[in-house]
Amino acid sequence: MKIGALDLKNKALAAPLAGISDLVYREIAIAHGAGLVYTEMVSAAGLSRQDRKTLRYIQTRKDRPLAVQIFGHKPEEFARAVDFLAEHSAADCIDINMGCPVRKVVSGGSGAALMQNLTLAREIIEITVAKSPAPVTVKFRLGWDSKSLNFLELGRIAEQAGAAAVTLHARTRQQAYTGRADWSKIGELKQALRIPVLGSGDVKIRQDYLDMLEQTGCDAVLIGRAAIGNPWLFAGIAAGADITPPPRQRAAMYLEHTRRLLAYEAEFVKGNDSAGKTIAKMRKFAARYINGFPGARELRQELNSIRDYAALKKLLQVCDVV
Ligand SMILES: Cc1cc2nc3c(=O)[nH]c(=O)nc-3n(C[C@H](O)[C@H](O)[C@H](O)COP(=O)(O)O)c2cc1C
Repeated sequence: MKIGALDLKNKALAAPLAGISDLVYREIAIAHGAGLVYTEMVSAAGLSRQDRKTLRYIQTRKDRPLAVQIFGHKPEEFARAVDFLAEHSAADCIDINMGCPVRKVVSGGSGAALMQNLTLAREIIEITVAKSPAPVTVKFRLGWDSKSLNFLELGRIAEQAGAAAVTLHARTRQQAYTGRADWSKIGELKQALRIPVLGSGDVKIRQDYLDMLEQTGCDAVLIGRAAIGNPWLFAGIAAGADITPPPRQRAAMYLEHTRRLLAYEAEFVKGNDSAGKTIAKMRKFAARYINGFPGARELRQELNSIRDYAALKKLLQVCDVV
């Protein structure tokens, strides 16, 4: 599977997830076999200003190949952002966000709002392609709502503007994350374009991944929510058999993930209680990492009051899983 000149080893990719797909998440996904990992969406304006907080999102180590996802609505900001990325060779691929449904993002004209302004969408893709040495991809939804399904039009525009691939999250902006992703539309887009089409939405287990590939003919599959706290989904896909590690191994991974994020945050985010914030962030991963443990529900509740690594480790030891 190729995106432009970029060769991917695996067709299961770790989707961009705001608040989740940080450097440590991405390293773990790659180590478990993900073919490509995405940053969470990064502001074109922030990158073009070389804003220190924004630059954190594009730090990269073993998380390669890496797609940096950019959101914004001003072509000149995309141009400056891409110049900056190219100079720091921080991205193997640049993905443009035209699907984010969040009010704060769309009210500024970015994310899914670009599906309502295809002239501007085209301009943004063209300038990004013109500037970027790395392949450029575009991620979008079916349309703004069920009455304005223009994913085929945007797909054709992306292809004409030089995008190396597109990703369709098969829901409308109005749906946000409700209802079911309509995979048949991924198939329609695949039929309509020559460039690779990547599918996204509701792939929860390895069989879903296989079904999406088969039913839609898409070239690769992005996995979002189901991989949070479950990097073995990528490992299973790479191995061609489901992998469900026992509680002890999952708890150990949860601790390792926490330890690595703590170390990373301590290095890069100096200041106010970064450890407390990291432990709090790790709660987002708890549900999956400890799913199916004896007393998992109580354990999850106790995790909510934990403030440091030692307490986390002790709690898991008490539960006899590490
Ligand atoms: C918490 C969360 C954050 C997300 N952040 C982004 C983002 O930054 N950029 C993006 O293009 N999509 C984002 N998405 C959408 C996912 O990449 C994906 O397209 C969607 O969740 C459907 O796939 P899934 O069912 O595998 O999760 C996000 C989704 C969730 C649930």
